[in-house]
Amino acid sequence: MNRNKNVAVPLIDRATNSKGQSLPPAELLAATDGRIDREALEALGGQSILNPRQFDRRTVVAISQLAALLEARNVEMEKPLDGKIAITAFFEASTRTRLSFESAILRLDGKVLSVPDGQVTGIAKGESLADIGEMFNTYGDVVIMRHPETNSMDEIRKNLQRPLINAGNGSGHHPSQALIDWYALLKWRPELCTEDCPPERRIHLGIIGTPGSMRAVKSFLRLSLMFPKAVDRITLVSEMADPVGLDLTEPIEESPIPIEITNDVREVLDDLDVVYVNSIAFLGDSYRNLDNRYKLDRSSKLKPGAVIMHPLARNNELSEDLDETDHNLYFAQAAGAVFVRQAILVAVLQRLDRISDL
Ligand code: CP
Repeated sequence: MNRNKNVAVPLIDRATNSKGQSLPPAELLAATDGRIDREALEALGGQSILNPRQFDRRTVVAISQLAALLEARNVEMEKPLDGKIAITAFFEASTRTRLSFESAILRLDGKVLSVPDGQVTGIAKGESLADIGEMFNTYGDVVIMRHPETNSMDEIRKNLQRPLINAGNGSGHHPSQALIDWYALLKWRPELCTEDCPPERRIHLGIIGTPGSMRAVKSFLRLSLMFPKAVDRITLVSEMADPVGLDLTEPIEESPIPIEITNDVREVLDDLDVVYVNSIAFLGDSYRNLDNRYKLDRSSKLKPGAVIMHPLARNNELSEDLDETDHNLYFAQAAGAVFVRQAILVAVLQRLDRISDL
């Protein structure tokens, strides 16, 4: 049960993750005295969400605060997305992203047109994404799209005039996943959202994977660079000599956060407060799973109190024997997805006025 003293009743009992840490939203709301940066949220009205570089720390915190409010409060009764139609167009497989977006919309009384597999569209007959974008202009109010091609967002936007949310584009980005990741981190340790996080509460963040070809990792790293007062150091663990890729070279050079690279997870594991791992790298038209050398299991020498994050789906790199431990933040991370996606939709569809007490 959520017990947030700063938020008006009614609070509700949410079904949450079955194993690992649970992350109730009350402490995050309390860390900012229940104040939500409405101006930062209003700036998202009518905007597409394509790349995490659109955000800054203030926006990430504001979306997390709104997500926490939506998680703590029974806003369903206010029907904030009443009359809105979202199109979820998935040209690549997904469990979490499509279904949590659809759950987010339906729980707030919006409606969904769902394309769970692009092959049921005219794509199978050679239709272009640009022409599909033209059709979507009259079918819905917002489009949420996943596609294996990195340039797919540009293609559909040739004609699409509705806000577009990038739900993963090849090796490009996955911005809503990165917001979910930071929502989990800020619920886990709410001081990280403040300007004066005590030095002993700042984190050494380890990222196992290759941001250059792993979109969730890339987007998470991009947002993490916006938190120099929360993140003390970042260590990238990758078998690649240059795992970063062109997209992030400049933001990394400009960031005050020191970043090191190693290919041996054992060198750093016992010093990491947060270990972010992902399984899948995109190689043009195929996927590659993370090397078994980077596998985490109960025998891994994790720092006491350290947490593991993973956008899921997982493969062998993350053993199920960690699920029952307090290192498991990944199930709570996934459980926060509906609320972050609700926050994005309410802001993009300009329905902040429908949330009372905001
Ligand atoms: N995290 C994530 O993108 O999961 P899905 O591939 O299941 O959508």
